[in-house]
Amino acid sequence: MDASPFPDLRRMRHEYAEAGLSEDEAGDDPVLLFERWLGQAIDAGVPEPNAMAVATASEDGRPSSRIVLLKGFDATGMVFFSGYDSRKGRELKANPRAAATMLWHPLQRQVRVEGTVTRVDPAESDIYFASRPRGAQISAAASPQSRTVADRAALEGRRAEVERMFQGREVVRPEGWGGYRIALDVMEFWQGRSGRFHDRIHYVRRGDAWDRSRLAP
Ligand SMILES: Cc1cc2nc3c(=O)[nH]c(=O)nc-3n(C[C@H](O)[C@H](O)[C@H](O)COP(=O)(O)O)c2cc1C
Repeated sequence: MDASPFPDLRRMRHEYAEAGLSEDEAGDDPVLLFERWLGQAIDAGVPEPNAMAVATASEDGRPSSRIVLLKGFDATGMVFFSGYDSRKGRELKANPRAAATMLWHPLQRQVRVEGTVTRVDPAESDIYFASRPRGAQISAAASPQSRTVADRAALEGRRAEVERMFQGREVVRPEGWGGYRIALDVMEFWQGRSGRFHDRIHYVRRGDAWDRSRLAP
C-alpha cells in the first residue's frame, strides 16, 4: 500500500480479552441487558457513553450516518433529539427506519439496534427542551440544521436575533426540533474476545417476546 502519514494501520491491533457474553449472561430480554451494559459503561467512565451513530437512508437507499446522544431508553425504544428538517429528519420522513450503533471501547462492547422511527410526543420534546441549558435552546432555535449557510458570521447573526427575540423570557421549543424514537425491532450485543473470536448475541422482536440467537463473529 502507499506510504501513509500514519503509523502502519495494518499493524495496529488491539487484543480483546476482557470478558465473554454467554446466552445465560445475556438472558431473554435485551432491554434489561442494554440497561445493564449502559450502566456498566457509565460506571467505567466511558466518555459520552450515550453517544451513538445513527444511520438513516434516503428514499432511494443512499445511507448516511452521524453521532447523536441517546436521551431516553426503555422497552418502547431509543430516544434522541434533533432538527426535524435536518438531513436525517428529511430522510426519516421519506424512510422512517434507522439503525443505531453504540461503542463502549474500554469494555470492548458494541450494541446495534434497528427499528422503525417515530417522532416523540410534542409534550415529551417540550419537557426535554425545557431541561436544556439556555445556550443550547437558543442554538437549536437559531440553527437551520444541515442547511448551507453563508459563513460563521451569518450563523452568529441568526443566534443574536433569536437571543433578542427571547430576551427576558423562556425560549420556546421550535416546532422543527424534537425527539425521535427508534423502536427496538432488532438488537445485537457484541463482546470482543481474544483472537477475534467474538461473541455476538442477536435478538429479533416477535410481538411481546424476543427470539435470541448467536451470530458468528
Ligand atoms: C458527540 C456528538 C453528539 C451529538 N449529538 C447530537 C444530537 O443529540 N442531536 C443532533 O441532532 N446532532 C448531534 N450531533 C451532531 C450530528 O452528528 C450531526 O452533525 C447533525 O445532527 C446533523 O446531521 P444530519 O445533517 O445528518 O442531519 C452530535 C455530534 C457529536 C460528535
